[in-house]
Order: sequence, then structure tokens, then C-alpha cells
Amino acid sequence: MTRVPLRPVLAEAVDVLHTAGVASPRVDAEHLAAFVLGVDRSRLLLTPLIGPEQLDDYRTLVARRAERTPLQHLTGQSFMGEIDLEVGPGVFVPRPETELLFAWALVHLEAVRHDHTPVVVDLCTGSGALALAVAHARPDAEVHAVELDPDALRWARRNAELRSAAGDTAITLHHDDVTDPNLLTELSGSVDIVVANPPYIPDGAELSPEVAEHDPHRALFGGTDGLAVIRPLVPLIGRLLRPGGGTAIEHDDSNGGELARLLAADSRFEEIVEHPDLAGKPRFVAAVRMS
Ligand SMILES: C[S@@+](CC[C@H](N)C(=O)[O-])C[C@H]1O[C@@H](n2cnc3c(N)ncnc32)[C@H](O)[C@@H]1O
Repeated sequence: MTRVPLRPVLAEAVDVLHTAGVASPRVDAEHLAAFVLGVDRSRLLLTPLIGPEQLDDYRTLVARRAERTPLQHLTGQSFMGEIDLEVGPGVFVPRPETELLFAWALVHLEAVRHDHTPVVVDLCTGSGALALAVAHARPDAEVHAVELDPDALRWARRNAELRSAAGDTAITLHHDDVTDPNLLTELSGSVDIVVANPPYIPDGAELSPEVAEHDPHRALFGGTDGLAVIRPLVPLIGRLLRPGGGTAIEHDDSNGGELARLLAADSRFEEIVEHPDLAGKPRFVAAVRMS
């Protein structure tokens, strides 16, 4: 069988994904085609034909996407900042909205005094996304990442190895519970930045099949009000941060005001600011440890 034009194949895939209720059918159809053809998505127009084996692979992937398997589980790839991450069953797929929290961390890191090595802690690291993106952007930083779930930790370890092999500064992974009040006591008062994207969806919330059936439940749900893991983070972060150190905590869009109040109720925090995500919804709260 000879190669066939890609354009109608793409159009057919968009139709299939649209009918299946996939939120961004064209984008996903193009990502999958780029993945199968081994080209960057921006170069698809320069690849007008697709071979028979690749066509079979492509149609299989499109069918799985139509069953609402996450795009990132099909390509095995996600990203944060300037790094690619391997993801799949057992680990939370990093989301674009967390990029804003990552950008906040980099800006705050710029302001860290130059008289010591900057120390960064990523609580609830999942695939290692935030910790590894920081380590890539700031090779001078000492980065720690904490994760409770053994499956997620395996992905974080794999990504950490890949990033080290690519030349990034190694991070330290801790298999631990962020609700443990004695977590990382050796770092108390010495941390410049704490970032956290904890499980924060209120129990029982309605989710798309990609999320409900593929992201680990431990990564998603934060108790009846979505704050079960966030609440103990506040005193922990107050203890870890050095004076002038900063934190950014992602939260459910229903909880921005409540998280800001929790931080304000702990007299160690000031400059408490609520930040929206790309869709304008409340998404993370940042605060600074008083000097
Ligand atoms: C929403 S995911 C975020 C992952 C990653 N930070 C990101 O942005 O892609 C939350 C992560 O927290 C982990 N987690 C849940 N409860 C935890 C706990 N008590 N201690 C440590 N990690 C926890 C989950 O296993 C999951 O990997």
C-alpha cells in the first residue's frame, strides 16, 4: 500500500474526536499525527503524506483518544516550563495552569539574596514537574520534592534521572507525607521557595472521563471542602520558609478566599495575593514569610 495524503486523514480524526466529546479535537488530532510521524506539530504541513503502518498506528491512537484516554498517556509526554516529562498511568498529568505558579516561583527566586544557595521545596511533586522545571531553570538551586504515592514517585524518579542525564542539577526526592508535621525538619527556616500543587478538588465533584478515570484519585481529591491536604500545608510552610521566603499554593477555584484567610490567620505570612489562572479563575495564592 502506498502513502496517502495526511490532510483527509486528519479531518477524519477531528470528526471522530469531536463526536466523542473531546474538548480540543483538532489540537489533539494534530498532536497524535505529529507523534506518529515523529515531527514537531508545527511541521505537520510539511509532511503531506502518511505511510500505511503509521496510518494504522494513528487510527488506533485516535480510537483510544475517542475513548477519552488522556492525550498525554498516548504520547507518554507532558511538560512544565522548558522541560518534557514522561507521564502515564499512576501519575497526575501536569496542567498548563500550573505554569503560572512555576513562573511566579522563578520571579521570586530572582529576588533571593546572593549570599546563599537558593533552596526550593516542591510539596506533592507527582511526576516531578515543578521541582524539575525549577532545577532546569535554576541550576544553582538546591531542590527538594516530596511525594507520598509510590507509583507517582516512580515517575518522578524516572524523570529526575532523565533530567540529570540531560545535564540538569539533580534534585532530592523524598517519599513522605506533606501532612506530617515533622516533615523535612532539617530544612526548617532555610527554604527560599515552597511550591505546592496538592490534591484540592472537593470530593464528589464532576470530572471529565480523562481526569476521573486516568488521574490517580489521591492526586485529585482534597476532602469534602478540597482543603484537607492544604490546611496542614500552611503551618508546615511557615516552619520551612526563611524570613522573606515565598510560597505559592494551587487550589480549587472555589477556595482562593479561604486559602488566603488560612494564610492570614498564621501570623508568619504577609503579602498574601490571590492569582487567577489562564481562564481567569482563582488558581493559586502566594505569600511571603515575614522577616
Ligand atoms: C495535583 S497532583 C500535582 C502533581 C504535580 N505537582 C503537578 O503539578 O503536576 C498532587 C500530588 O500530590 C500527591 N499527594 C497527595 N497527598 C499527598 C500527601 N499527603 N503527601 C505527599 N504527596 C501527596 C499525589 O500523589 C499527587 O502526585
